[in-house]
Amino acid sequence: MLPRRRRPRGGGGAPPGILSPAVRFPGVAIYLAERRMGRSRRDFLSRLALSKGFRVLDAYSSAVTHVVMEQTSAEEAICWQESRAAPPPGCTRPALLDISWFTESMAAGQPVPVQGRHRLEVAVPRKGLPSPVWMAPYACQRPTPLTHHNTSLSEALEVLAEAAGFEGSEGRLISFCRAASVLKALPFPVTAPSQLQGLPHFGEHSCRVIQELLEHGLCEEVERVRLSERYQSMKLFTQIFGVGVRTADRWYREGLRTLDDIREQVQRLTQQQKAGLQHYQDLSTAVQRQDVEALQQVVEAAVGRALPGATVTLAGGFRRGKMQGHDVDFLITHPQDGQEAGLLPRVMCYLEQQGFVLYHQYRHRGDPTHLTWPSNTMDTYERSFCIFRLPRPPGAAIGELQRPCPTWKAVRVDLVVTPISQFPFALLGWTGSKHFERELRRFSRKEKGLWLNSHGLFDPEQKTVFPVAAEEDIFRHLGLAYLPPEQRNA
Ligand code: UTP
Ligand code: MN
Repeated sequence: MLPRRRRPRGGGGAPPGILSPAVRFPGVAIYLAERRMGRSRRDFLSRLALSKGFRVLDAYSSAVTHVVMEQTSAEEAICWQESRAAPPPGCTRPALLDISWFTESMAAGQPVPVQGRHRLEVAVPRKGLPSPVWMAPYACQRPTPLTHHNTSLSEALEVLAEAAGFEGSEGRLISFCRAASVLKALPFPVTAPSQLQGLPHFGEHSCRVIQELLEHGLCEEVERVRLSERYQSMKLFTQIFGVGVRTADRWYREGLRTLDDIREQVQRLTQQQKAGLQHYQDLSTAVQRQDVEALQQVVEAAVGRALPGATVTLAGGFRRGKMQGHDVDFLITHPQDGQEAGLLPRVMCYLEQQGFVLYHQYRHRGDPTHLTWPSNTMDTYERSFCIFRLPRPPGAAIGELQRPCPTWKAVRVDLVVTPISQFPFALLGWTGSKHFERELRRFSRKEKGLWLNSHGLFDPEQKTVFPVAAEEDIFRHLGLAYLPPEQRNA
């Protein structure tokens, strides 16, 4: 799917009664009551709604279906409506709604059903706030489940983290990730800014964003970033397999904006990027859990043929319990140290013979002594970055049939080979999340004086490594309570 180029619309809010070029919900006509909202915020919200295909009317009339108000009590809203002309016979009055209906609809990208809590007629009693909790400062010291109570808040902070990453601001990226991660670990939904007091990693900026979200349902900075050409292009480009922030930034500075712009420069692309573009539509569609199970069987069969006794272990987001992901990560090992050497080319050969491989890039095992502890987080395992051709199960969903090829789809798979002696470190490192790993390494270094990566745990004073048999041993050496993969969604 090609992105729509967004250009700022001239002149403030929605012109009177003008329809956005692409009205997606003809049954809904929103009127934003300005009274407590203020002109500039109203203009901003109008533009936001128009950009998402909503119809916004500038004047109150019988065509309005949804009146949206902010910081307005039910009594005030009803007074306001009664001061307007009564609707013509046969017409119903529009719904009087709190801004929460608007913000939820914007977030959903479509009008959400109106519920009692959205209606200004119903007063919502304020419940007592949950008391503050103590939270450990490192993400590896606390459980973080996959689903939590503060999704819309953490996602807003992660947009700012991602945008900081696009600008090369690693420090800001990490600050926003830490604050978002704290929200994910909270056992209750945050409903008032005062609940952030005493939580680690909540600096002035993150607090301000959360406060704005709680008070207005939206944060202007986050929405501005989300809709900006820079963010949208950087996101589009970095989603291409083989394209990192630096390449995306160079393309952006050269004026490229769309996938078609990139396709015109095909002679400059690496093989990996060409494959990424060729399969862009499939690769930008989430991998599903049933795909993972099918892939695991395929890889296990090939690995079993290449080296009897060798095993395949699922890592990455799917090991943490995610139902969808951007790729599938498998670790391959053998119970006898050293047996795994040279295994991967044979595995790839079998897979290619069976027509499962659309693209792959093999990387030889590096020399682990060249690893510069502790700064280099890369590992030197033998690995293959692949695009698999995964046959679709018969009777795939109707929508699926509109995809480029109805009989198979392209899926990104990483295959990593590790000797059994280092396997627990590789498994811990490849299970993620990325932020969890970053925190684990920081905790090791700063709190324990030990260097951790996907090959081992090293004591720089004693010049020794810790032998381990399982992930649990690594947590124990670090003095941390064991966290199962499902609790590492930091
Ligand atoms: P992914 O990027 O695959 O993320 O890295 P994910 O959590 O599985 O989520 P999806 O795929 O976007 O759905 C998984 C883990 O592997 C590590 C990452 O740091 C992360 O913790 N990893 C990834 C490496 O150690 N080295 C790599 O080259 C790539
Ligand atoms: Mn993954």
